[in-house]
Amino acid sequence: MPNVAARHDHDRVWRPWTPISTASDETVVEVEAGDGYRVRDTQGNWYIDALSGSLNTILGYGHPALMKAMAAQTSVLPHFDLTVGMHQPAAELAHRLSALLPGDLNRVLLANSGSEGIEAAIRMTLDYWTSRGEDRRRVISFANGYHGSTLLAQHLSGLPVTGGNWAEPFPVSRVELPLPPAELRTARASELLLAAFEAALCEADDTAAVIVEPFINVGGGIVLPTGFLAGLRELCTRHNVLLVLDEVFCGMGRTGRMFGFEHAGITPDIVVVSKGLSGGYVPISAVVATEQVYETLSREPVLGGLRYGHTTSGHAIACAVASAVITTLEDEGIVANAQAMGALLATRCEALLEAPGVHDVRAFGLIAVVQFDAEQTAVAVEREILARGVLLRRQGDTLMLVPPLTIDEQGVYTLFERLEAAVRVAASEAR
Ligand SMILES: Cc1ncc(COP(=O)(O)O)c(C=O)c1O
Repeated sequence: MPNVAARHDHDRVWRPWTPISTASDETVVEVEAGDGYRVRDTQGNWYIDALSGSLNTILGYGHPALMKAMAAQTSVLPHFDLTVGMHQPAAELAHRLSALLPGDLNRVLLANSGSEGIEAAIRMTLDYWTSRGEDRRRVISFANGYHGSTLLAQHLSGLPVTGGNWAEPFPVSRVELPLPPAELRTARASELLLAAFEAALCEADDTAAVIVEPFINVGGGIVLPTGFLAGLRELCTRHNVLLVLDEVFCGMGRTGRMFGFEHAGITPDIVVVSKGLSGGYVPISAVVATEQVYETLSREPVLGGLRYGHTTSGHAIACAVASAVITTLEDEGIVANAQAMGALLATRCEALLEAPGVHDVRAFGLIAVVQFDAEQTAVAVEREILARGVLLRRQGDTLMLVPPLTIDEQGVYTLFERLEAAVRVAASEAR
């Protein structure tokens, strides 16, 4: 007799970051299976996954190399706590990551999620200054930045959704964007942004670190102007503060380079990667620091090291999958494909600027963002494109298209055709 599992209602699952009033069964697509860049719901409908799961399934679904690595590691050793001992999957991943990164970004701390990685990175920066006998606790970030869900990571952000009425664990200076996102692409915009960061650096003498994303994801899908990151590196060096790059979303090829900051040719002091690192198959994140940061923390007054880690940090199965992701990215030319498919999608999407209701189109690697004149228009387009078999990410008045990096030309054409049709129908309804 086949074992047919009973279907369960969704009502016992408390969905994260979701208004309870909208969490009803009718509005939720229950995804059952995936194949390549597409997923299937329980009704048998297929969708292009233009949000890559949660911006993490960079190699799509059912990738044989990842499944093989996972099965092989599971059968030998699922995990052994790195606080107590060591295992080869962690050692291999640390070597592979440091080989991908510039300068002496060689020391790799492993964790389970982007938020944990950010939390560990901030802890490193604060403990770095304590270890040097300096009381520096301030972090400078973008007010529109988003660095994760844990309390400390939420504290870095100025987005209303991350706000809380509790005592500050450490001071944060949150830099506001000097111009609207659609006007942030010029050399002048870069100068204004750098001036805002410099003002924040000059205002306080207790700054430990600056943290930014190479592309502002949750805070509006914002492409930062050319020259900004290089200028920020120079500012941080001049003011003697650490620069942390949050590559949780951009890292592992999303922007058409292995890391988003590579476009600027800089070397940060600490880099955090997560989402794409395991292709979304298992949870993992990595915090990679320079030799100088690592050496300095050996003088940390309480432990003589970093007081941070979880039972499952550097989980052996996750490490094995992450190394398989790196091999696949290299062997299958995935980063170059992301660059080429991103350019194709961007060119197509730019034509939408003529469409009624479209305010701006911007792109960075295989990230395309369409901003509408009102949130209501974006909601209508989201509804129409879902009906045409595309899952994507809406943030306020913007829609973001971030398909798996393995998507091909046919997939990009189909994705764009569906988007164009959805925009046309939503606009005619609005008239
Ligand atoms: C830039 C950035 N940083 C950090 C995070 C937090 O990662 P996680 O959800 O894995 O904790 C996210 C998640 O969306 C992100 O986009």
